[in-house]
Amino acid sequence: MKERTWLPGWTVERRAFDPAHTAKTESIYAQGNGYINVRCAEDERYVGQTRGTFATLTFNKALPDEVTELPNLPDVTAIDLTVNGERFSLDRGTYRDYLSRFDIRTGEVERSCVWTSPAGDAVRIRSRRMVSLAQKHVVAATLEIEALSGPVRLMVESGIDARMTNSGSQHLHDGEKRLIDGRILRMATRTSESRVPIAIHCEHSFSADPARALPVMQRRRFVMRYAFDLEPGVPLSMDKISCYHTGRDRSFASAERLGGIKDSARVLQVGDACITSVSSMGYEGLFEASRAAWERYWAHADVEIESDDPFDQLGMRFALYHLNIMIDRGEPRAGIGAKGMTGEGYKGHSFWDTEIFLLPYYALTDPAAARALLVYRYLSLPGAYAKAQENGYEGAMFPWESAWLDDGETTPLFGAADIVTGESIPILTGVLEHHITADIAWGVYLYHAVTGDEEFMDRYGCELMVECARFWASRVEWKPETRRYEITNVIGPDEYKEHVDNNAFTNYVAAFTLTHAADIIDAMPKRWPDACEQLSRRYNLHELAAKFRERAGGMYLPGPREDGLVPQNDQYLDLAEVDLSKYRSEAGVSSIFEDYGWEEANKVMVSKQADLVMLLRVMPDLFEPEVAKRNFVFYEGRCLHDSSLSHGQHGILAAWFGLEDMALDMYRHAVRVDFGENPTSSDEGIHSASMGNVWQCAACGFAGLMWEHGELSFANHLPGTWKRLAFEMSWQGSRLRVTVEPDAMTVEHLSGAPVSFTIDGRAFSVSHEEPQARCVCGAGDAA
Ligand code: BGC
Repeated sequence: MKERTWLPGWTVERRAFDPAHTAKTESIYAQGNGYINVRCAEDERYVGQTRGTFATLTFNKALPDEVTELPNLPDVTAIDLTVNGERFSLDRGTYRDYLSRFDIRTGEVERSCVWTSPAGDAVRIRSRRMVSLAQKHVVAATLEIEALSGPVRLMVESGIDARMTNSGSQHLHDGEKRLIDGRILRMATRTSESRVPIAIHCEHSFSADPARALPVMQRRRFVMRYAFDLEPGVPLSMDKISCYHTGRDRSFASAERLGGIKDSARVLQVGDACITSVSSMGYEGLFEASRAAWERYWAHADVEIESDDPFDQLGMRFALYHLNIMIDRGEPRAGIGAKGMTGEGYKGHSFWDTEIFLLPYYALTDPAAARALLVYRYLSLPGAYAKAQENGYEGAMFPWESAWLDDGETTPLFGAADIVTGESIPILTGVLEHHITADIAWGVYLYHAVTGDEEFMDRYGCELMVECARFWASRVEWKPETRRYEITNVIGPDEYKEHVDNNAFTNYVAAFTLTHAADIIDAMPKRWPDACEQLSRRYNLHELAAKFRERAGGMYLPGPREDGLVPQNDQYLDLAEVDLSKYRSEAGVSSIFEDYGWEEANKVMVSKQADLVMLLRVMPDLFEPEVAKRNFVFYEGRCLHDSSLSHGQHGILAAWFGLEDMALDMYRHAVRVDFGENPTSSDEGIHSASMGNVWQCAACGFAGLMWEHGELSFANHLPGTWKRLAFEMSWQGSRLRVTVEPDAMTVEHLSGAPVSFTIDGRAFSVSHEEPQARCVCGAGDAA
C-alpha cells in the first residue's frame, strides 16, 4: 500500500476495535461530499452496526402515516471475507496490530489488522475507503489481503446490498439487477412514494485472477462471490468502485423541472457511462483526484489554532471536515440536515440550525454556498404558504422541519417515552415553534449584510423577507387589555417550555422581521426594481410597509425588569427553582427526564438550551452590556445544554463578556458534542449545528467578528492559553485573512475591493495597496 506522510493535527487513530460502540464511530467518521454520504461501518458485519448511505434530495415516505425522510440506500461498503471456510470477524478468533486511521485532511479511512481465524490461519488485512470529493457520485474501497501462516482459500463476497431500512422502514422497491460485461453489477430501484429512480453500479478488480467468480442475485441483494488461493508473501489486492445516481441529480433538473426525472432508463445510462470512466481510474487515481479537491478546500477553509491543548486544533478541523461534507455546495434544492447525512437521526430534515448556526459560517467563507441555502428556502415557499393557510395565517409560515421543497411541515408527531405517563411524548415543535420564520429572515439579513449580494435580494431576498413579515403581521395578537401586540402559545428556542406566551426571542425576531421588511420595501424601487415590480403586482407595498411598521411598533418587547432580568417568556421567572447540579454535571443529555415527567419539567425553571441567550447573540446591541451579561449569567445557570446547539453559542457570548475560562470551556464542549468521549453521543448522526458553532465560537467569539448593520468589526477575545488563531473569510466579495494573537490582531487583504472595519473600536482599512492592518490589542483590553 502506498506510503503517505501523516500530518500532525489532522489524523485520528484508534488502536482497538470497540464492538459495543460502533454507531458513534460510524457517524463521526462518516465520509461524503454532500451529494452522497456513507457511514463509516467496518467492512464486515457486527451486531449493533448501522450501515447508512444517504443521497441528497431523495426524500420518501415509507408509509402514509410516517413522515418523509432520506432513505437509507443500498449499501456498497460491506465486504465479507472467508478464510479457509471461517468468516472474518474481529469478534471471532484473535486479532493484533489493529489500527483504524481517519485522515481529516483527505477524508480517507484506513484500517489494518492481523487476524487469526479460530482454526489458526493468520491473514493481514488492510483496507481504505473514500467517498470522492472530486467525482461526487463515487464511493470507493481498496483491500489488501495477505496469507501469513500458510496458503489459504479466500472467499470474497461483495456487491450491492439493498436489504437496508431506516429503523425497519423500507423505502425502495426491489430493483432490477443486471450483470454487465461479466464485471459491472448494476441495480436500478426507486423510492416507493416519491418515485425517485436510483441507480447503483459497482465494479471489482483484483491484482490476480480469481479461481472462481459467481454472480449471486437475490431479493434486494446482488453480489459477486469470488474465490482465490492465496500463497504467503503474495498479497491480493482488490479495488471496489461504486457509483450512485438518482433522478433528482442536478444534471436532470431545471427551473421548470425542479424534481428532476422519473425515467430510470436515463439515470441508468448516465450511471453506465460513469462507472466505466471512474473504474478505469482505479482506487489510487480516484483517491488522488479527491485528495486534490480536499487540498483545494483546506487551502482556504483551514482555521489554525495554536493552543496548549492540541485537541483544540484537531476539533476545529473535525468540524470543518463535517461542514464540508454536510452540504452539496451550490445545490439550491437541498437544505442541511440537523445530522447532515451521517445517520437516520432527524430524518435528513433541516431546522433553524441552518440559518442561525450554519449560515454564518458559509456566508463568511463561501457565499455561493450560503446563497444556495437561502434559495432552498425560497424554493420551499409553497410549503410555507400552505402551512400558513392551514393555520389561518398569511404569507409564509416556514415548517419547523423541512425536507423536499413542497413537503411543507415534516415534523413527526410523537417522540420518546414519558417516565410519568408511560406514553410517547407528543412533539409540538411543528405546531408551536414559530420563530423559524424569523430565523430565516435573519438569515437573509445576515447574508446580505455580509455579501452585499444585491442580485440575490432582487430575485429572492426581498420576497422571502416580505412573505416572512406577512406571516408575522397576521400572527401577532392585539391585546386590548395591554394595548399591544403579543405572541402567545409558542415554543421558543428552549424546547423544555411549551405553550409559553411572549417568548422574548420570538417577539424580538418577529419585530425585527417586520421592521426589516418595511425598510426593504422602502428601498426596493431604487435598489431592487425587479423585486419591486414582482411584489407590486401582488400587494400594495406602501400599505404593507405601513402595516409591518404598525405591528412592529405595537409589539410587546420585554425589557429588563428592576432586577435587570429580561423574562424569557411571561411564565419563566415565576417557575419553581430546582437544584440542577446533578443534571448539569451529567455527561449525557436529557438526564432530567430520568426524574421528571415532561409536564413536570415544563413547570420548573430549567432550560434545554440557549433561549434568551440566543436573543443576546442574534441582536448583540439590544441591551446595555451589563444587562446582557447579567442575563447571560442568570440563564446559563438554569440551562442544561441538553441541545447540541447550546454550548457553542454560550461560548461566543462568554468571550464577548470577558468570561474567558467559560468561553474556552464552551468551545471545548461544542467540539466534544460529537468528537468527545461520550460513546453514544452521536449514534444517529453528528450534530451539524454544533460544527457551525465550533467555527462561530472561534471566529465570532474569540476573534469578535460581527457584521451588525453591514459593518465589519473584530475584537480580541483570544483565550489565555491560545497563542494564535488564524482564518480566512469573505467580506462583500473580498477575501481577508484574520490572525489573532495574545496582544495583537492582524487583518490581511487577499483579494477584492478595499475593506473597512474596526478592531476593538479602532477604524482600519485594507486594500490591494495597503494589504495589512495590525492592531496592538490584548484580550484583556477588549472585554
Ligand atoms: C433542539 C432544536 C434543534 C433540533 C435539531 C433539538 O434538540 O432543541 O433547537 O433545532 O434539535 O438540531
